[in-house]
Amino acid sequence: MSIVVSMINWKGGVGKTTLTLHLATGLAERHGKRVLLIDLDAQCNLSFLAIGTSEHVTHTYTNSQPTLKDIFDSYFSPTPLTANNVILQQQVRANAEQVYTTVDIILSYQELTLLDMKLAREKRSGRDHREETKFEIEKLSVIKNIINLVTHDYDYVLRDCPPNVHLVTQNAFFASDYYVIPAIPDFLSTVGISLINTYMNQFNNDYTSMWVYAGLSDSYVATRFGGIIFNMVDEYGGGPKNGHQQIINSTAAQLGRSAIFSKYVTDGDGISTAAQMNLPVYAYKDCPRAH
Ligand SMILES: Nc1ncnc2c1ncn2[C@@H]1O[C@H](COP(=O)(O)OP(=O)(O)O)[C@@H](O)[C@H]1O
Ligand SMILES: [Mg+2]
Repeated sequence: MSIVVSMINWKGGVGKTTLTLHLATGLAERHGKRVLLIDLDAQCNLSFLAIGTSEHVTHTYTNSQPTLKDIFDSYFSPTPLTANNVILQQQVRANAEQVYTTVDIILSYQELTLLDMKLAREKRSGRDHREETKFEIEKLSVIKNIINLVTHDYDYVLRDCPPNVHLVTQNAFFASDYYVIPAIPDFLSTVGISLINTYMNQFNNDYTSMWVYAGLSDSYVATRFGGIIFNMVDEYGGGPKNGHQQIINSTAAQLGRSAIFSKYVTDGDGISTAAQMNLPVYAYKDCPRAH
C-alpha cells in the first residue's frame, strides 16, 4: 500500500513544486523507493521540471498523449480508464542522460482550471438526497480511484497541489493519507498555516458525514497533518539566521514542535540552477556552475 501525501500551501512561491520533486527523487535515489508523482497544478511546473518543458508540450499538445485530463474525462464519459493509460513511466529526468526507473508521473495540463468549473457544474440527480450525496462522493473520488489501482506499485504517491481548494484539489485531499505544508519562515508564508489546518479539519468532518450519510461501507479515513517543511531558510553560524529562527520558534509555540520537520531546506542557488535544466539537485554534476 502506498503512502499518499499532498503538498499544500495557498501561498505561491514557497517551494511546493520544488520540494515535491526533490522528495520524490530523493526517496528514489537515496532510499530505493518507488514513487508516483501527480501534478495537480494548471501551471504544470512539476510536469515541466520532471520531464522538460518542450517534452511536456510535445507529449500533451502535439501528440495528444494522456494527462490528468484523461482521468477526469473518464469521470464524464462511460469509457473505463486504466492506470497505465495515464501514468508516464520512467521519464522523470535524473541527469543529462538518465531517467529515474522508479519514479513515474501523471502530468498536468494548462486547461485544468476549466475542469474545476465543469466539475462544479456537474450535478447528477439521484432518487433521493442519499443517492445525490453518493454522487458527490464519486466526484471527489476520481483521483482516489486511480491511486487505488496502483497502490501496490508505489511506496509513495506525492502530489503537488495548486494554491486553491477547488474540486480538483479536494480530490487530492480526499485521496491523501497526509498533507504536508512547505513554507518559508517569514510572516506572510506562515500566517496562513493555521487556516490550512482549519480548512482540512472542516473537509475531514464534511467528508466523514457525507460518507456516513451516503451509507457507504467502511468509514472515511481522515487526511492527517504530516507537518511543515521550512524551505529557503537563510543560515548563519550553523542554524537558521535570527529572523527565520524566530518565526520557526513562534510556529512551534503555536502548533507544537512535532508539527515541524526538524530538517529544513536552505536557500541556495543549487535548486534554481538545476531547475533551469529541468533537473533535481541530485544531478549537480550536470549543472552548469558545478564544475
Ligand atoms: N531552497 C530553495 N533555494 C533556492 N530557490 C528555491 C528553493 N526552493 C524553491 N526555489 C525556487 O523558488 C521558486 C518557487 O518555487 P516553487 O517550488 O515553484 O514554489 P511553489 O510551487 O510553492 O509556487 C522557483 O523558482 C524555485 O526554483
Ligand atoms: Mg508550484
